[in-house]
Amino acid sequence: MHPSLSPPLQQPFSNNGLQYQPRLLLIPAPLILVIFISLTTLFLVLLLLCLQWRQPRIHKRLPPGSMGWPYVGETLKLYTENPNSFFSHRQKRYGDIFKTHILGCPCVMISSPEAARIVLVSRAHLFRPTYPTSKEKIIGPEALFFHQGTYHSRVKKLVQASFMPSAIKGSVSEIENIALRLLGTWKDTSLNTLQEMKKYAFDVAIISVFGNNKEDLEMEGIKHLYQCLEKGYNSMPLDLPGTPFHKAMKARRLLNERLKRLIEKRRQSGEQSSGLLGVLLEAKANDNKLNKDQEPMISDSQIADNIIGVIFAAHDTTASVLTWILKYLHDNPQLLEAVTREQEGIRSKLLNANRGLTWEDTRRMPLTSRVIQETLRTASILSFTFREAVEDVEFEGYLIPKGWKVLPLFRTIHHSPDFFPQPDKFDPSRFEVPPRPNTYMPFGNGVHSCPGSELAKLEMLIFLHHLTTTYRWHVMGDADGIQYGPFPVPKQGLPMRVMPKKKMT
Ligand code: HEM
Repeated sequence: MHPSLSPPLQQPFSNNGLQYQPRLLLIPAPLILVIFISLTTLFLVLLLLCLQWRQPRIHKRLPPGSMGWPYVGETLKLYTENPNSFFSHRQKRYGDIFKTHILGCPCVMISSPEAARIVLVSRAHLFRPTYPTSKEKIIGPEALFFHQGTYHSRVKKLVQASFMPSAIKGSVSEIENIALRLLGTWKDTSLNTLQEMKKYAFDVAIISVFGNNKEDLEMEGIKHLYQCLEKGYNSMPLDLPGTPFHKAMKARRLLNERLKRLIEKRRQSGEQSSGLLGVLLEAKANDNKLNKDQEPMISDSQIADNIIGVIFAAHDTTASVLTWILKYLHDNPQLLEAVTREQEGIRSKLLNANRGLTWEDTRRMPLTSRVIQETLRTASILSFTFREAVEDVEFEGYLIPKGWKVLPLFRTIHHSPDFFPQPDKFDPSRFEVPPRPNTYMPFGNGVHSCPGSELAKLEMLIFLHHLTTTYRWHVMGDADGIQYGPFPVPKQGLPMRVMPKKKMT
């Protein structure tokens, strides 16, 4: 302590021979402590606010927009307003690039196709993907979507190789069996569309990842643990005993052990395994042959993280889109009949030849494919994606400071009347001509674009073939409204009543 500051507080001082106690010393010690803590807290809060609102060096060139209230920014507005109108109001007011502050982060929103292309494609190296740490912990930090650079491109090539048309062509009959098994349980019943679609998309994801090797017991265990994981993923990241997040982290460790056991078993058996796991194991075996003395390019824990990551990416997305398709077909009965006619044309060929669907059949479903395209646009289940500026970036005449989040707004672009006239109308015929470049990005764009787009479309076509030729459905309750969990889906997951198609006619 500095000597000139210490004495008065340590000793009472004299006044005309009378001992005078400064008032401060009459205050009880606990109260002093409370005052001290309050002042320190106030000081820290003020310091934080100053740091947060410290203007970057080149203040003038920040994009327009409002940073909202100190610390909370515009988060409350985003959560109380409909997220779509939150973005579109600001776009109308500030233009295609604007700043805001949500969830504790300064952000730049991007809603022009050209600017989104710069972030995702041409200058993608300046904008790294960014996710909350809790999500990385649950999925596994080595999953490809958290990475950039050499590791990302190596794993991405392998994942792409597993889901390109030539690789998934052979899975048509297996996917068809999954669809038929699920639809067989429907018969005259009420059900929750989203939950049913999740079952379907999950089973398809499992065979695409693990191949068709029959390790049923192992698979059941993996499915069960995965479901625990999923519950924790969308919960508060509170790692305390009893919380869903804690249970999910426990499930994640067990899942890792199971996957490692499965990997070892497949490696020992020496049999060629299919699916993504087969491709990853083969890549690792080839690495080992080439570089005997070096570390393998991909480790078993990297394989496990990517397996879990791909199941995550494949499952809820496809299930949410399928749920929207059923809603749009329900709301547009003439369109449903036209899709059914297209599918019945294929069905009669299959019946004549006494065979199931083939890849080639799925290439002859133009109207059904356009319904899928239009659903991906209208519902835009990934409304935006997150990136983070890795350095101060000069962008379209503005500064994006290092560390700021950058969000290309897919939904806003998909709903712009400049690119999609009457954007709120569900009109698959708009896809009779291809959309303008970079205006349609349901599967993203650039290095991180979706490697599973062909699989997603294939499984939706197969499902719609059997659904429209077998069943009709009525939405129960309030047919309109959206809920987020985490993707936007029709309210309550679209409860509906299904009945065999013949009974309707
Ligand atoms: C209709 C369903 C789907 C939609 C709408 C969708 C959408 C997307 C989008 C927009 C991205 C890019 C995210 C970004 O740039 O930050 C993405 C990435 C990804 N998707 Fe999909 N996806 C779907 C289905 C699938 C399926 C079936 C698989 C797996 C087979 C899959 C695996 C992935 C993976 C692994 C990535 C990360 C790629 C990377 O970071 O390089 N997705 N998806």
